[in-house]
Amino acid sequence: MFTSGLFSGKIVAVSGGGSGIGLTIARQFMQYGATVFIASRKEERLQKALETLAPLGTCHAFAMDIRNPDEVERFAEYIKDQYGRLDILVNNAGGQFPSAAELISPNGWNAVINTNLNGTFYMTRQMFTSFFMEQKSGVVINIIANIYKGFPGMAHTGAARAGVDNLTKTLAVEWSPYKVRVNAVAPGIIKSSGLEQYPPEILQGISDKVPLKRLGSTDEVAYLTLFLASPMADFITGETVYIDGGQRLWGDMWEM
Ligand SMILES: NC(=O)c1ccc[n+]([C@@H]2O[C@H](COP(=O)([O-])OP(=O)(O)OC[C@H]3O[C@@H](n4cnc5c(N)ncnc54)[C@H](OP(=O)(O)O)[C@@H]3O)[C@@H](O)[C@H]2O)c1
Repeated sequence: MFTSGLFSGKIVAVSGGGSGIGLTIARQFMQYGATVFIASRKEERLQKALETLAPLGTCHAFAMDIRNPDEVERFAEYIKDQYGRLDILVNNAGGQFPSAAELISPNGWNAVINTNLNGTFYMTRQMFTSFFMEQKSGVVINIIANIYKGFPGMAHTGAARAGVDNLTKTLAVEWSPYKVRVNAVAPGIIKSSGLEQYPPEILQGISDKVPLKRLGSTDEVAYLTLFLASPMADFITGETVYIDGGQRLWGDMWEM
């Protein structure tokens, strides 16, 4: 797809890189020559991922929670100790649960906002101050979700991802003097481990709701992420690119 060695010598951090979309993003970066750090909470899951990635090149795993700024800082120090730099940050870690808005408790709301909005900000700010600001270079890719028409059925994640969508634009401008590009990828429904957390009845017949009549693959999300992180996208910043088979433009995702 891309030229081999496209990311040769680059250091990449992928949050949530131990599973699903994040794991595929990590794998593809490694296939094109990058050294990759994957980070998420569950050590065991990270170690399994590391085993599958190790044959492709250099990969490191770090157990941490993006909601905890101290752990985020330790992750940055871990990268700094080994390579002294970071070139690309992919904020992919996230999670939510389906619920009518009125049934979301304050705890449930805060948990989703904390992960998807606050955690993304902590990671991005930390990597900027630890690396990008001084390097005068850096790329951030935020994996969000299809929030084009709001997010009926998951108000918390819709609000959090809309926050990240806006943050993407703000940081793209604020950090442009440092030659840092910030973009977002908004996946529709992707055949990935994340889908296993949803009740099967919600997902039944869901491909028919997508104009292209199928779900996306983790590889397709990764190709877009790599493109936006590459020099081919050097003049693109502050954008959110949807990858949803046209779903945002037509019909309802699921019955209310
Ligand atoms: N699959 C889809 O259709 C779809 C569509 C739109 C958007 N997305 C978004 O794309 C991203 C990847 O989704 P996926 O399908 O690959 O789901 P997934 O396998 O559940 O991936 C989520 C990853 O985030 C990590 N994570 C969650 N909370 C974390 C925290 N507080 N700190 C650090 N890591 C954390 C998880 O690992 P640990 O549990 O070990 O921490 C996991 O590796 C998510 O943000 C998801 O919401 C997915």
